[in-house]
This record gives sequence, C-alpha cells and structure tokens, in this order.
Amino acid sequence: MSATARKSAPNADDIRALKGQTPIVSLTAYTTPMARLMDAHCDFVLVGDSVGMVLHGLSSTLSVTMEMMILHGKAVARGLQSAMMVIDMPFSSYEESPEQAFRNAARLMAETGAAAVKLEGGIEMAETIRFLVKRGIPVMAHIGLTPQSINTLGGYKVQGRDAQADAVIADAHAVADAGAFSVVLEKVPQNLADSITAELAIPTIGIGASAGCDGQILVVDDMLGFFTAFKPKFVKRYVDLGPAAEAAIAEYAAEVRARTFPAAEHVFADQAPSKG
Ligand code: KIV
Repeated sequence: MSATARKSAPNADDIRALKGQTPIVSLTAYTTPMARLMDAHCDFVLVGDSVGMVLHGLSSTLSVTMEMMILHGKAVARGLQSAMMVIDMPFSSYEESPEQAFRNAARLMAETGAAAVKLEGGIEMAETIRFLVKRGIPVMAHIGLTPQSINTLGGYKVQGRDAQADAVIADAHAVADAGAFSVVLEKVPQNLADSITAELAIPTIGIGASAGCDGQILVVDDMLGFFTAFKPKFVKRYVDLGPAAEAAIAEYAAEVRARTFPAAEHVFADQAPSKG
C-alpha cells in the first residue's frame, strides 16, 4: 500500500530555508506512539537505521534491511501530523550504483510516505546524491562518523581531527554541491563543525558536533534513557525511563506473586452495578 505525503508538514525546501533563521530540532523515531509524542516539537523526525541497535538488539546497523525500514517508517508516519519525515537508506541499499539507490529510495518514499531519504557518505556518494535529487528525491547527507562504515573507520571514533579535517570539509562541500538539502555531521570536533556550518549554504544537523550547527538530532531512546547498552559522550539523558520502567515491571511481578494484583478495582462483578 502506498502512503501519501502530509500536506501540512514541512518539506526539504522548508528545512533548508531554516538555515540562519532558527535552530532545527529533530529526533529519531521508530514507532507510532513515540512519533506522536515528538510530532509537535520537531521540525523533522528521522526513521533512523539505529532502529537495528535500539529496538532489535543488533550490534551494529549493518544488518538492517529495507523491510525493517519500511515497517518502522509506516509506523512513524501514522504518528506524525506536522513534522517532516526523513528515512534512512539501510546499508547495501544504495552504494552499488545511483540506479540501485534510486530504486530503493523511491520504494522507501512510496511505501512509507517519507518526504526525503538520508544516506551516509561524502565525496564517494556525491554522484548518487546528484542522480537522486535530479529525479525528485530530496537527500539528507550524513558525514563524519558514518556508522555503516565502522568496519573501515575502525570503530565509532571522532572523525576529522587534525589532518583529517580537510577530508571532512571536502565531503561537506561535495554533498552540498551535489544537491543535498542538509547534512548530518556526526562526531566531529566542535570547531570543524562550526567552520563547515559557516561555509555551507545548506543546514548542518549535529550529533556529537557543535551547538553552533544549524540543528541537532539525537536518538530518542538515548535521550530518554531507554537504551542503556552504552552511552556516547554526546548523548544527554533528559530522563532515565529505562530504570523507571524496570522498577514498574518488578513491582508488577511482585504483586502478581503476592496475589495483590489484580485488586478489587481491576476485576468484574457477576452483575453490573445498578444505576440507582
Ligand atoms: O540512524 C540514526 O539514528 C542516525 C542518526 C543521525 C541519529 O543516523
């Protein structure tokens, strides 16, 4: 079943136009209830391939599939009214050729209603970004630490320190020149993020970058304290819901074992109470 774009939500041009106006707010989402909670507060919501690690217990994003992205994309779309929806292209769905990227990006958008795709990579993906944008697919780029490349980057390290800075700057210009409407800068030094933000005409969205970026994104389960396997330095936990949820589950288990749940107010009498 195909999905239709929501008329009231911002599009790629609207997000681009926020540069220099107001900080762009975004979070990831993977489910309808979470999308509903953030809809009124975010300019765009990303259905991130981090879903593999956060909800499916995978050790990296590398085995996330198109089917997983489509399933979660449809769920998020049901929870959004006013925020734009961007969806990640999973590993191996776009790197082979611009044509492969187009086929899969078009499928993600048609089946979920996402208004744009995000893909990882700089100079090496510029030709693909240009191909997609020319054919009607708005692209958010993602440079710096690109988690789909951890095996060649040697882990989740800061990117662009010292001599590496020029390479990240070159990536930023390449994706902007190719037509990306914005670019995620992940885990790059603050000064580098600030210079790239000053140099580019498109918005930079920081994650582990700088408060000077044009916008920020976090993985929602990180900032709510649901994902506790590890906590990168750049994550701020605004609330610790994981331990609170576990305490509630433990209380329920204890009450069931003590036969104090369900209590009188949770059960039904043989006869309905008379209306009096
Ligand atoms: O998949 C993801 O969650 C991302 C980040 C930028 C948050 O790509």
